[in-house]
Amino acid sequence: MLNDQKVVFSGVQPSGNLTIGNYLGAMRNFSAFPDHKCFYCVVDLHAITVRQVPADLRRRTYETLALYIASGLDPEKNVLFVQSHVPAHAELGWILDCYTMFGELSRMTQFKDKSAHHADNINAGLFTYPSLMAADILLYQTDIVPVGIDQKQHLELARNIAARFNGVHGETFVVPEPYIPETGMKIMSLAEPTAKMSKSDPNPNAVVYILDDPDTIMRKFRRAVTDSDCTICRGEGKEGIANLMTIYSCCTGKSDEEITAEFSSAGYGKFKEAVGEVVIEALRPVRQEWTRLMADKAYLEQVMKSGAEQAAYYARKTMSKVRRKLGFV
Ligand code: TYM
Repeated sequence: MLNDQKVVFSGVQPSGNLTIGNYLGAMRNFSAFPDHKCFYCVVDLHAITVRQVPADLRRRTYETLALYIASGLDPEKNVLFVQSHVPAHAELGWILDCYTMFGELSRMTQFKDKSAHHADNINAGLFTYPSLMAADILLYQTDIVPVGIDQKQHLELARNIAARFNGVHGETFVVPEPYIPETGMKIMSLAEPTAKMSKSDPNPNAVVYILDDPDTIMRKFRRAVTDSDCTICRGEGKEGIANLMTIYSCCTGKSDEEITAEFSSAGYGKFKEAVGEVVIEALRPVRQEWTRLMADKAYLEQVMKSGAEQAAYYARKTMSKVRRKLGFV
């Protein structure tokens, strides 16, 4: 990249309403790289590995882009774009399919989980999802990929694919490193705190959406599943409280010790409300800015167009190198 500037890439699927898991585990870290060349992508090609209603996919693509901006990414300083607007993603995805082993893809836990959830639609795209993800990352010669812990296995595979291609054809791709936050890497469901909070969870009380209004956020936290103990600390059987501590820590920067001390004489009810309050305050400006942006579709379209043009410029450079190395005429 220009002047040896480090490159950051990440993506979010427009496949559902985004949750505080997406926000705390990934999106809020996207602004942590002011001196890097950053590419943030709305990965609509990945979203269709699960059946989507076209009108919903279209709307969510705008919504996700608006959330990138609302969560602090300046489109003048970051390349914000939609994956399907840069056809090189699909092209490199195919090429990398040919450098990814069946056995590697078979071991992906997300593939196993999603196959179990969508048993009527275990399509080839669901299976090769990780090589398209590798293409997203490798196309921009990415150094750093900020993600939640659930994407770690895919990142490791992307590294293996890059190393394998480089091994066969000589230095072609930068081998990327994951950037996984210590706090917030895996926000759990409020209803079932041993399971990840997921945008596709059918139980709306399990999930706090970034765009939930304050009353809804508070109601969901009041109902969060905890335990029959009454101390605010981590421990065996206390996954619910541990998750609330993580969320509180993400929003306040406080350590576990500070949180335990702060709520030493409070009951669970009071703690849950305190968590609800800090989340409401953290999300308030995001929701306000998002609402303003969504009223200006022309602006969002201009951002996606300019983002795709910039992304395509860098993608072209990698693709011409790849084509040459492969022997394409
Ligand atoms: P997706 O859309 O499922 O999630 C977007 C980001 O949110 C993180 N995340 C979470 N973090 C903490 N706790 C949770 N409960 C939680 N749920 C989701 C995810 O780790 C992710 O960082 N395959 C990716 C999208 C993708 C991508 C890429 C990411 C496609 N190409 C290239 C990085 C680089 C995905 O499905 O994310």
